[in-house]
Amino acid sequence: MRPAKKKPKAKRNLLALNSGPTQVILGITGGIAAYKIPELIRSCRNQDIEVNPIMTTSALEFVTATTIATVAESAPLIKNGYEEGIAHLANLKNASCFVIAPATANTIAKCAHGIADNSLTAAFLAYQGPKLIVPAMHTEMWENPITQANVATLKSYGVEFLGPVSGPLACGDVGAGRMIDTALILAKIQLMQLTQLDLSNKTILITSGGTQEPIDSIRTITNASTGKLGNALATTAALAGAQVTLLSTTPHESALVTSIHTPTVQSMEKALEQSVGDSDALIMAAAVSDFTPSSPASQKLKRDGDLTLQLTPTKDLLANVPRTENQLVVGFCLESESNLTTSAQEKLTRKNCDYIIANTPDAIGQDHRSFTIVGKNGQSNAYENISLMESAHAILSLV
Ligand SMILES: Cc1cc2nc3c(=O)[nH]c(=O)nc-3n(C[C@H](O)[C@H](O)[C@H](O)COP(=O)(O)O)c2cc1C
Repeated sequence: MRPAKKKPKAKRNLLALNSGPTQVILGITGGIAAYKIPELIRSCRNQDIEVNPIMTTSALEFVTATTIATVAESAPLIKNGYEEGIAHLANLKNASCFVIAPATANTIAKCAHGIADNSLTAAFLAYQGPKLIVPAMHTEMWENPITQANVATLKSYGVEFLGPVSGPLACGDVGAGRMIDTALILAKIQLMQLTQLDLSNKTILITSGGTQEPIDSIRTITNASTGKLGNALATTAALAGAQVTLLSTTPHESALVTSIHTPTVQSMEKALEQSVGDSDALIMAAAVSDFTPSSPASQKLKRDGDLTLQLTPTKDLLANVPRTENQLVVGFCLESESNLTTSAQEKLTRKNCDYIIANTPDAIGQDHRSFTIVGKNGQSNAYENISLMESAHAILSLV
């Protein structure tokens, strides 16, 4: 018999607020989007996040308590808590955040006014940690000034909101009110486990991926950059409240980010010139080609013997991008370990950056990164083997 595989130990991160296992309270209310919540719970469990569910009785019309209990490995609180006594208060104390997803107009209204007539609203009122509401409802309900006033009231008490987004609704209409993707809810929960990052009122421009310079109508010269860190920077910045524009070398769809597809150095240069003036911070995470074919063929080249490509150096976008006053500029430097620091210092000065993120080629494509942030005042901070979101958090903390 094969020995049972040991479950790998959860990695401790440098920026996490709590040292124990991550526990969250998840309130589920009676909206049609409740059918997506078992999937969210499953993704949380896959990330070693313990979920303590609380359901309203209306939520039971959309998803069963058995389903929630099974995926959460914890029975949901449903009634007024009388059966369970005060046991659930212990869960409240250990939880790092309280999330309501989906949140109906009804429950948002109750929470805004301190009504505590069921387990969920009572627990929400009692809980003292960070709170996140993920609304989902029909457009008219969401846009109603009563709901908007309730949202404003809750925000004034420090409650965070994520979504809703525009898109097709369950009733067949299209408009604002759709619950944001569960992957982004999970990302926001993970971000709430790190030290607070508030980027509201910040506009951030980020470049991401490896440029593709055309050889002919279908072939390109490119590099190994995956865009993983650039995309994590964009998502994390948006989840922290920033207005984000992402110039990405591959098409990137996100409800939270304005994404512009810029596959070539030239298209990225043009988009940079158009967007850079409005941004408080510019983070150039894209791997931009140093050379481009001098005269790309308009048709697919035939395999007719040897082919010699003549390459022309491209424009150095980081060094030449027009800057505005007080704009923070962060560049990247990829070098082998032996001359990384010298190269990062040299790049920082020559390209007039505020910070350079220095990393080695083995970082490419990885889900955990090691890098050093080198600042123009001589400071440098090294990070070892941290997740993409933690890496993004560390870099965005500079803004
Ligand atoms: C089929 C159906 C779908 C519903 N979807 C939503 C919804 O997406 N968002 C919402 O705010 N209310 C929705 N409602 C209304 C709520 O279920 C109702 O306001 C209920 O009282 C909410 O209770 P709760 O907030 O305690 O869960 C829906 C009702 C029905 C019958």
